[in-house]
Order: sequence, then structure tokens, then C-alpha cells
Amino acid sequence: MKIGSPVIVRPARNVRGTVTLPGDKSISHRYAMLAGIAEGPSRIENYSTGADCASTLGCMRSLGVSWEKKDGGVIEVQGSGLALTAPASALDCGNSGSTMRMLSGIVAGQKFTSDPKLADPKFVDPKFADPKFVEMIGDESLSRRPMARVITPLTAMGAQITSRDGKPPLRITGAALKAIDYAMPVASAQVKSCLLFAGLFADGETRIEEPLRTRDHGEVALRAFGAKLDRRSTGAGNEIRIRGGQRLRGIEARIPGDLSSAAFFLCAAALFPGSQLTVPSLLMNPTRARLLDILMQIGLRISVTQLDELHGELVGSLQVEGAGLKGATIAGADSAALIDEIPVLAAIAPYTEQGIEVRDAKELRIKESDRIAAVAANLRLMGAQVEELEDGLKIPGGQSLHGAELDSCGDHRIAMAFAVAALRAHGETLIHGAESAAISYPAFFQTLEEVIEH
Ligand code: S3P
Repeated sequence: MKIGSPVIVRPARNVRGTVTLPGDKSISHRYAMLAGIAEGPSRIENYSTGADCASTLGCMRSLGVSWEKKDGGVIEVQGSGLALTAPASALDCGNSGSTMRMLSGIVAGQKFTSDPKLADPKFVDPKFADPKFVEMIGDESLSRRPMARVITPLTAMGAQITSRDGKPPLRITGAALKAIDYAMPVASAQVKSCLLFAGLFADGETRIEEPLRTRDHGEVALRAFGAKLDRRSTGAGNEIRIRGGQRLRGIEARIPGDLSSAAFFLCAAALFPGSQLTVPSLLMNPTRARLLDILMQIGLRISVTQLDELHGELVGSLQVEGAGLKGATIAGADSAALIDEIPVLAAIAPYTEQGIEVRDAKELRIKESDRIAAVAANLRLMGAQVEELEDGLKIPGGQSLHGAELDSCGDHRIAMAFAVAALRAHGETLIHGAESAAISYPAFFQTLEEVIEH
């Protein structure tokens, strides 16, 4: 492998070794936000190394929260309590949809003043920013992503939000929020967390219903920081209730390894019968672990040891061994549960015996890139036959691929998915825009190099 820009990936013979992953991205975002609005200090170990989670920390600092990075992935945060400080300039969410969507729930509950006499001159220069509203901005990819899913319910709670046709930048004027009773039209954990966070600032009890079960790190983290909430299964999804006005208290916590980042190594191991990989301290939260069932169904042998619980999050050590590579269909609730892992599962699909079909995954079209189109285009460049569907992909098995010149489309998960696909191709693969891997996993290519045998 030649690590640089672009990255060149050479075919491998096997995968062997141990991969220790930085902390889970979804949990890192939530801990940084909740530690910021908690009372007292928090100490968070194994915080995600990804640029997205750095965007969240940057925004929290702009909102007056002080934090420090210590050795070994430790972040120490001094909580500000529920009332934050008006930022002096726009909150830059970078590439991170999670930052913009979840943090908008906290910003919506802030009542910043437009009276310069009342504003803290250390933070607000009336020449540069109207402290009454907070602007949230993002990069080119984030500026194309839909925000109506948070704008609509936050507006119903009393916030005033303007946007560019439902897309960033957002200008949020916070308010004394009212609780709502809201059935989410899309299954999105980001929206669920946004509304639970906003619910902390609301007068009364907020009730949220999700159509399908999505990752529950928001609920688990809120409880870890001392909030009370009720959750009830509604069959396919959940109903969650949270009372406003609850104060959070800081925690000392360790974040389990990122399961979605592990997916790339697990899929790489699945490509080679005889591969052996150990992944210690990995997140095993049941709302994320569907990936492991699908990989076992495809043919990977997985055993879990040292199961433990860290602040309500399940963690365990994984031993995996490559065996066969059968096929799979991913549809319905599975597509929501596996949304971040579908690109890499699709990228290895041609090497399976029966192929992989993905349905009910049209959300993939509005991620950091149109991931359905990006997967189809790159697989075709490698010589694969692929059928692109509006809501998924049909990829026959039993195909052999050749190396090619690919484009990550600036999307971290596409860059990493195709580094994995390239391991079983004939010839070298060149991936343009591979540096986008740093959005979630800066050390990805180095770590991959350590576990592959040529
Ligand atoms: C996330 C939820 C998912 C996922 C994203 C992280 C989260 O997005 O794709 O990478 O941490 O809640 P949606 O909520 O839009 O499905």
C-alpha cells in the first residue's frame, strides 16, 4: 500500500493481527455535547480521533465550554450547565451531519440576548455577529444534506430556524421550548437525539416515537449523565419520554471501540479463508451489532469474550476467522440498523457466492455522498456487474474484480470500503480522495497495512 494522496492498495493474501479501535464516533459526539451541558467536570477516555468529533468539540468551545485534550485520547471537559454562551462566530460543523443535527437541539434551547449591553463582550462582538441567533455552517457535502428533519420539530417546540431551503446554513434563534409529542417520519438516531436533547430544555414532557429501532446511544448517554427517561417498545420502534429541566452531572467514562470502523477490518477478514483478527474492547450495543449477525451469516466465524458494560454501553472482545463467503439480503429494519456498514458490505458483495442485495436504504443517497451511486460507480470501474436501485443495490456474487482508479467522492466510508474491495482484486487500485478517511478514522490506512499480508 502506498499511503499518501491518492492511496494505492495492492492485493493481499491474508489478514492477521489485532486492531484496537478509537472510540465510537456516535458515542463521542453525544458525550462531548452532554459533558458540555452537564454540571461539573467529565473525563472521557478513548474519544474518537475522527475529524467529525473534533468538529463537535470545536462547536462546544465556541459555545463557551472549556475542554482539554490529554494523552491517550482523553478529553477533560468542564461542563457549563444547561446555559451556554453565545458564540462570536458561526458554529462550523465541517463534514459532520451528527454535529449539526444533534447540536441544533441544544442550541434551540439557548436564549441568547441581542442586547450588546447584556452580552458578554469576551464572546460577542456586535460588529461581527448578531448574538440573537446562532449560525451553523458546514462544508460543501454537509451543505447539501437535508435538515428539515430537525427544523420541523424544533420549530414546533418554539425555536425559530431559517435555512437555505431546508439545507445548511441554519440560523437558530433559541427560545423557552415547549415539549412536543412527535412521531418521527424518518428513522434517524441523529434526529431522535436532537429532540431528546431539546427536550431537556423544554417545559413539560417530550414524547418521541421512532418508526424503526435506531441506535440508542442518545438514550444511554443521557442516563449515564444522570437524566431520567422512559422508553417503551412500540413493536418496530420505540417511544421515548423525557422531562424538561433535568440537570446533568459530569461523568468519568471510557468509550468502546468504534463498531462501524471495525466493519472495514471485519469485512477484510471475511475476504480470506484462514484470516484471523482480534478486536479488543469493541462496542457491542445491540442496536449496532446487527453487523455481526450478517457477517456470521455471510460466513465469518466470530466469537465474543470479555463482555462488559461501560456506562450502559456493551463492550466485548472479538475473535474472527474467515471461512466461506455466502450471500445476504439486507432490507427493512436491517437497512436502518446497518446504514453505515452497507457501503463496505456492498463493496465485498461481488466476492461472495450468492451476492448481496440491499433494499429500503434510500437514506444512503443523502449521506456524505450518494453512497448508492458511489458504490455502484466504483464497483463498475473494478469490472463488476451491479444493478443500481432507487433504494439499494443488487450485486451478483461469484465475480472477480480488477484494480482500478477510483474516487472516494470525498466520503470517508467510500474510501475505506474500496480499500477493502481492492484487497481481493487483480492488480493495484488507486483511490483518489482517500484522505477523507480521517473524517471518522485518521489511522485507517496505516492500521490496514499492519494487518494485511501480501
Ligand atoms: C448516526 C446516525 C446515522 C448514521 C450516522 C451516525 C448517529 O445517521 O448514519 O453516521 O450517531 O446517530 P441518521 O440518524 O441520519 O440515520
